[in-house]
Amino acid sequence: MFKNLMVASATVVFAGSLAACGSSDGGADDAGGSDKITMGFAQVGAESGWRTANTKSIQASAKEAGIELKFSDAQQKQENQIKAIRSYIQQKVDVIAFSPVVETGWDTVLQEAKRAKIPVILTDRAVDSEDTSLYKTFLGSDFVLEGEKAGQWVVDNAATNDVNKDGKINVVEIQGTTGAAPAIDRKEGFEDKIAADSNIKIVASQTGDFTRDGGKKVMEAFLKSQKDIDVVYAHNDDEGLGAIEAIEAAGLKPGVDIKIITVDAVKDGMTALAAGKINYIVECNPLLGPQLMELAEKVVAGEEVPQRVETEEGAFDQEQAKAVLADRQY
Ligand code: AHR
Repeated sequence: MFKNLMVASATVVFAGSLAACGSSDGGADDAGGSDKITMGFAQVGAESGWRTANTKSIQASAKEAGIELKFSDAQQKQENQIKAIRSYIQQKVDVIAFSPVVETGWDTVLQEAKRAKIPVILTDRAVDSEDTSLYKTFLGSDFVLEGEKAGQWVVDNAATNDVNKDGKINVVEIQGTTGAAPAIDRKEGFEDKIAADSNIKIVASQTGDFTRDGGKKVMEAFLKSQKDIDVVYAHNDDEGLGAIEAIEAAGLKPGVDIKIITVDAVKDGMTALAAGKINYIVECNPLLGPQLMELAEKVVAGEEVPQRVETEEGAFDQEQAKAVLADRQY
């Protein structure tokens, strides 16, 4: 991933709301004469509970901010997102926001948006491009840090994670979508931390495409191919929930016979954590809507925004999940 972005990172939490501002050159003002900001948002898809919560947050926040939202679901296909972005350029929206399915292959369409003078905001996931002038800002999580938190938990709990008590901790990894920033970065962060203990090894790793069904299928295959699995590291809750189904179908107890770590902390994941079926969840916050609308208003008004806006998040063990579950919004 393009590391210079991280160098410029700053944690910014916006409070309050800004008044809607005028549009940029070539935007909706020029097309229709309205003062209302129009945003074109190209979403990844509806692959996970996290994504559903993210979409709801964006739609509700746009409504609240008085921003007209044109929304498209790319069904996890880059070509669909590129088509959606081109259509937003044609429609002369004021601002384009999107969460890239994969990291690479965006320069051409982003150059088209730049030529049309339509500012672009990256939300949730970054692009791997050396030309940072192609977007105004990137709002989202530090996925490397999330992977590090997961890896550190395996290291810190090495004694209990060695379920089969043979001195080795065999980890199977269910990766997110191949080429997606969270899959690349969560793997990298996790591997960095487990390198501290030579007894911890990733013995198998495959993509589950961030879906429950994908997680289930990959785990079924791992249970057949691997004799000794101590830990499952799933890149999101949905994959972990699919893995639980496969583990139970094999007559084993998830969370006990095989430890499970996931990322997201959506309600279904937290419910499984509180029930003892997952052992640890690293949080990834999907509620990006309010910050996105604030940023959109600023970039449309031509104001400076930080190049990187990072979301704040924590992590939960089973006791912490029990304590917060009732109040979990998503
Ligand atoms: O980009 C964020 C990731 O994408 C979330 O962890 C996952 O659930 C989603 O599909």
